[in-house]
Amino acid sequence: MLPKRADFPKDFQFGVATSSYQIEGHAQGGAGSTHWDTFAATPGNVVRAENGDLACDHYNRWEEDLDLIAGAGFDLYRFSTSWARVMPEGRGAVNAQGLDFYDRLVDGMLERGLKPALTLYHWELPSTLAALGGWQNRDIAGWFGDFTQVIADRLGDRLWSAAPINEPWCVGWLSHFLGHHAPGLRDIRATAHAMHHVLLAHGTATQVMRSNGMTNLGAVCNFEAALPADDSPETQAATRLYDAYYNRFFVEGLFKGTYPAEVMEGFAPHMPKGWQDDFATIQTPLDWFGLNYYTCKRIAPCGGAWPAHHEVEGPLPKTAMGWEIYPQGLSDFLTRVARDYTGDLPLYVTENGMASPDQVSAGAVHDPARIAYYADHLKAVQTAITNGAPVKGYMAWSLMDNYEWALGYEKRFGLVHVDFETLQRTPKASYLAWKNALRTGS
Ligand code: NOJ
Repeated sequence: MLPKRADFPKDFQFGVATSSYQIEGHAQGGAGSTHWDTFAATPGNVVRAENGDLACDHYNRWEEDLDLIAGAGFDLYRFSTSWARVMPEGRGAVNAQGLDFYDRLVDGMLERGLKPALTLYHWELPSTLAALGGWQNRDIAGWFGDFTQVIADRLGDRLWSAAPINEPWCVGWLSHFLGHHAPGLRDIRATAHAMHHVLLAHGTATQVMRSNGMTNLGAVCNFEAALPADDSPETQAATRLYDAYYNRFFVEGLFKGTYPAEVMEGFAPHMPKGWQDDFATIQTPLDWFGLNYYTCKRIAPCGGAWPAHHEVEGPLPKTAMGWEIYPQGLSDFLTRVARDYTGDLPLYVTENGMASPDQVSAGAVHDPARIAYYADHLKAVQTAITNGAPVKGYMAWSLMDNYEWALGYEKRFGLVHVDFETLQRTPKASYLAWKNALRTGS
């Protein structure tokens, strides 16, 4: 059973999260091509070469989807705007249809009493900008600033909160070093550039929003508990390095104006010129900080080039992603981030959830493991609050099953099941458990 609303502080906010490319159906409404479309069309990158062309068809079914969010009693909806839907070429001309869609969506949230929590960029870079080097090109900060201005002009007066970029680690390391996400590079120079430029773009967009009078501005980073596979000194050092480039790089940039020394051992020769001068922009003050958290990784050293470590399978029960279920990591990060970086700044869990192979049977979806996952992670949030972390809200990933990037439609994270043939939505038992916890408080 999930903890009740009454078991959290009075002003604590609950929400669900999604992202544009994962749910909307990108091929509709005049959106421009993105680097995810190209990446997905390249054999070997995505399971069954699936893409976001239709996804959950949220572009047409958004009213039904907002009804589901409000119907469960959530307070917030964390959603994102697709850059290429709003500006098909990434710069210049605006697609009125695209901007109108987000305008209606925000009004639809307000009509239902939902607070709109916007992420401006959740991974689908316009192809024209990708062709100019994408996140490797310093000019992306200006391009992103211009896109932010368009969004601020149209939606800025009605948003509850806004964060420029979802999960900088994925934009940088996962996509340019590991090659698992678009643009699929495995290049340390590209990675160092992208990881720095993503923060520069974050700071630039934050300044644009501030100067347009927008408030409640934040940042959203992902965290993964780094656990040593054994207790040898070499393994401890390898784990510290993993923790440094995954969990410390971005918060150190945002809140301390520096990067971890361990990461610079690998990155120093590859950093863009003059990077030290960008922290004034990167450190533009924020109103809140968001953590996305799912799992832990066991790290061990291995031969080869920097960073010379790999992941080892761990013993805990796993989700359909193969991710170990480790709720303690969430309370640890909330406590650690407040202690080491953000102090009194309000913290939000901006994503947390699990995938399971859910099926509809007699009109219902039985997903007890997801209910247990949420219950255990909500308890971890309570532990962090008891320890003094200023956690003000929690958002479940995700409202509904959707396009899980390189893993296509097979990994189901939703509180609501989506049949990708008929696009029918079926609330799962976990949705009903949330509704019970939020609406009746029992
Ligand atoms: C993080 C990302 O923000 C989201 O797009 C993704 O679907 C979930 N994690 C699950 O992997």
